[in-house]
Amino acid sequence: MTDSTPGSFYDQVGGHDTFVRLVDVFYDGVAQDDLLKPMYPEEDLGPAKERLLMFLEQYWGGPTTYSERRGHPRLRMRHRPFHVDPPARDRWLTHMRAAVESLRLPPLYEETLWDYLQRAAHAMVNTFEPAGIGAPPDGRDRGNLSVTVRDDTPD
Ligand code: HEM
Repeated sequence: MTDSTPGSFYDQVGGHDTFVRLVDVFYDGVAQDDLLKPMYPEEDLGPAKERLLMFLEQYWGGPTTYSERRGHPRLRMRHRPFHVDPPARDRWLTHMRAAVESLRLPPLYEETLWDYLQRAAHAMVNTFEPAGIGAPPDGRDRGNLSVTVRDDTPD
């Protein structure tokens, strides 16, 4: 099924236009963010914006396009390549807060949406190491702490 569920939160808050606005304002913030912007693999944030839009629409009872195109969300797993520490989470939430407020939803809806986003962002944290220390959680060593060990023992 692709259409929204009748009476869903998605419909109650204004459907597609509302979620487009949410991700537009959020990604305007990300584009200016010196911590978050470099984390995004693509220079163009458009495709990432589209994925977040599809995910949030589906989560709240809108079209199920996300799963049709991307499969099971498995969001924690999909975030493993990225250094999501508490400072990154707080930046993410700062931009999301501005985006949520821009919607001017009735307080009960705003609370519901914000409460979920906060819990989801806290659940996405996958490291407490400062950025640049050690290998990222997927185990790929990008060489950011590589040490050359010289063997000075005489032959
Ligand atoms: C806590 C801080 C977070 C950071 C720093 C972060 C960062 C990122 C990055 C760098 C990507 C890759 C961009 C792409 O190519 O799609 C991504 C993907 C994504 N994020 Fe986050 N994220 C955070 C939290 C969240 C939360 C709370 C949600 C959901 C409520 C979420 C939903 C998504 C989705 C749906 C994708 C695309 C997954 C896919 O289908 O590949 N993120 N995120």
